Parts: sequence; structure tokens; C-alpha cells
Amino acid sequence: MDQLVLEGGRPLTGVVPVSGAKNAALPVLAACLLTEAPVVLERVPALQDVHTQLSLLRHLGVGASWQDDEVVALSAAALAEPVAPYELVRTMRASFLVLGPLLARCGHAEVSLPGGCAIGARPVDQHLVGLQRLGVALEVVGGYVRARAPRGLRGARIVMNQVTVGGTEHLLMAAACARGHTVLENAAEEPEVVDLARFLRRLGARIEGEGTARIEIEGVEHLEGGRFAILPDRIEAASYLLAGAATRGRVTVQGVVPAHLGAVLDKLEEAGARVDVEAEAVTVALEDRPRPVSLRTAPYPGFPTDVQAQFMALACLATGVSRVRETVFENRFMHVPELARFGAQISLEDARSAVVTGVPKLVGAPVMATDLRASFSLVIAALAAEGESIIDRLYHMDRGYAAMTEKLRGLGAQVARRKAPPG
Ligand code: EPZ
Repeated sequence: MDQLVLEGGRPLTGVVPVSGAKNAALPVLAACLLTEAPVVLERVPALQDVHTQLSLLRHLGVGASWQDDEVVALSAAALAEPVAPYELVRTMRASFLVLGPLLARCGHAEVSLPGGCAIGARPVDQHLVGLQRLGVALEVVGGYVRARAPRGLRGARIVMNQVTVGGTEHLLMAAACARGHTVLENAAEEPEVVDLARFLRRLGARIEGEGTARIEIEGVEHLEGGRFAILPDRIEAASYLLAGAATRGRVTVQGVVPAHLGAVLDKLEEAGARVDVEAEAVTVALEDRPRPVSLRTAPYPGFPTDVQAQFMALACLATGVSRVRETVFENRFMHVPELARFGAQISLEDARSAVVTGVPKLVGAPVMATDLRASFSLVIAALAAEGESIIDRLYHMDRGYAAMTEKLRGLGAQVARRKAPPG
């Protein structure tokens, strides 16, 4: 297992290129099942989660090959048996999104339930209820969803009980090829949902209203092929900006859609950072200790839950008390005990509320990554801390941060990746 060794205490400065968004690439890859025609995707980040999704697609009969560093060619002309096994779905929840497209293509499918994960129970009830509204008969047997749509999918009005990114994406894909009109109410407005809608439209789908809480879809019989570039990763961009601020440096993220970073940039300004926005780049600079900033996570355009841990790392160094409330997931504070190892002062009021009392400095420590975004909060703390830190269980980071070591080095960080010593 690999670990990261960092020597902290030096400001990060420079420009970092942002990769394609993992959370846009994963649903777009699942959507490739909807068409028999070839698809070429650009700006696909070469991440572990993307490799997992590609393995599942290949298992389902899709031809998928990397043509270049970030370009993948896919062909789902002929599909194999539409069964997504537990081994492939349990490691990554986004693989559950193949269910809807498989039903649209094959009329039946069997897909393992993804199960819970470290950050919360994460049920898929909204996905299943929505599919039922689209005419799917389903049962859960032995941990698998067995689903049939013998007479095809048909459009419906679906009011989602909960704002869910994956649920909205799942139903968007299924409805794109359903017979008739679908309305999704209380839909997620995340840029990744918008990107999926844009991709589907590129293939010939008829979709309106993405990016709002009401999406309308007029089903089409066939989708074509096409070429499409995945949107830039706003969460990766925010992570590097926060690393720049926490080390009192000056970091530019290049190749982003600044509007997607709105809530994070507002909070960075509140913390005292200087924020410069250009057409496709954002620069954040902070010279002094950050001011305390309180925040609550919320669906887009609110403050992203995927940046909560990284922001908390910055708040650890603030000149006062910050409050952080997590409203999206029920168990997303696993970084708290690890941040405490650097000398951070954080107390949990309850499972969803943390109080962070800023300290003048953090001190390097050996720590353990617990989940993807929590891992980057430890990187931020380690970069800001005095002395050496070792972060274990790097595989969490490999799921979501492309070329992280190289990108950090490009900003002047002293960081090395090595095999963890045995024992
Ligand atoms: C997506 O997960 C992202 N993953 C997550 O990114 C992100 O944290 C999350 O959206 C919220 O922004 C991908 O896009 C691949 P949800 P998703 O359905 O779709 C509850 C990262 O670090 N819920 O919007 O699974 C659920 O339990 C990750 O990159 C139901 O109750 O999230 C959660 O509390 C981790 N029933 C809330 O809704 C359902 O049927 C939001 O989940 C579905 C969800």
C-alpha cells in the first residue's frame, strides 16, 4: 500500500491544471450504454473510479479503449448479459447507474445494490421509485435488483423526495430513451447533472431545464454517437485553492468554470483570501492566518459536501471559532480525529456539527486517509503543518485526484509517494 510523505510549512505557489470531473465522467460513462453508435470522450481523468467504471462496462460487453491520456473511445454496439456483479458495484456506488441504461437497451437487468459506505448509508430508494414510475417492475433478491421493463420504459412525472445527484442522473438517462414525456421535479442542479444532460443531448436526446429543479425529457427511440469533453472538476479545483490558502500561498487553478466554484470562493473571501476570477482560471492568495468562517453544506449551488473536509483543514488555522454543519451525509466527519493529530482543535456537537477553534500552527504527524475528500483535507493540513507528515492508505486519494503528487510538486510542495514499510 502506498503512502505520501510531505514536508510542510512552505507556501504553495503557481498554476495547477484541473482535470476532467470524476463525478461527471462516471455517469457519462454509464450513459454510453444507451447507444449502439461509437462515442469518444475527452478530458476523462485517469482515476481508479474511472478504471472501475470501465471494467464494469467491458464486463457488460462495451468496447472501451484509451486513445490518449484523457481520451476514451467506447462502443456499446452489442451488449453481453445485462448483469452487474457485486464485486464490481460494491467498490463504487456510481456503477449502480448502469441499471437504467441497461433496462433501456435490454428490457431487463440485474444489478447489485451498492450498499452503504464510509460517509453514510446512501440508499438508492429514489432511483428505484423513479424507475418504477417509468414502468420498471423490480424486486431485490440476494442483494441484487432484478428489474424488467418488458414493454419498454415510458415517460412519467416524478417528484423526488430528496435532492439526489445520482438519482437525478439515473432517471435522466432512463427517461432519455423512454416512450413519451418525463418531468423530474426536485431534481439536483449540480453542474455534473448538467454535463450529463449536455452529453445526452449531443447523442440526440431531448432534454430541457437541466440545472434547475425541474427537468423535462421527451424520450427518443435511438441515440446516436458523438464526441464529448467532460467538464472540469470543480471539487479538485477547490481542493488546490484551499491548499494554497492554508499554506498562505497563491494558487491558480487553470481550466475551470469559475461559476461552479461560487460558494467556495465566497467562503474563501470571507476567510480573508484575495480571489481573482478570469474566464477559465481562478487565483486565490492568502497572506495571513484565515479569519474564522462558518458554513453548512447543501446541494448545489450551496457549499459542496465534497469540499467540507478540505475547508475544515483551513479553518483549523483560523484566528477564531468556525462552525461546520454537514447536511448532505450523516457521517462525513471522519477526518476530524485525523486532523486532531496535527494539533487541530475540533469538537463535534453532534454527528453533523463541528466546532473548529483555530490554532496558530499545526505540526506534522502520521495520519490515515479514511475517504476520498477527507484524504485531501489531510494533505492540506500536512502542507500547512511544520515538519514531516505521512499519510497512509493513499488508495482513497487515487479514486479522485489525478496526478496529485505531480500537481502538488508543480506548486512547490515537498511531497513523495512511496510503498508503506511492512508491518
Ligand atoms: C454524488 O453522490 C457524488 N458522487 C458524491 O461525491 C457527492 O458527495 C454527492 O453526489 C453529493 O453532492 C458521484 O457523483 C459519483 P446523492 P450521490 O444521491 O449521487 C441521500 C465524492 O467525494 N439519498 O446526491 O451518491 C443520500 O444518502 C463523492 O466525489 C437517499 O436518501 O449522492 C445522501 O444523504 C462522495 N436516497 C443524499 O441523498 C437515494 O435514493 C445525497 O446523495 C439517493 C440519495
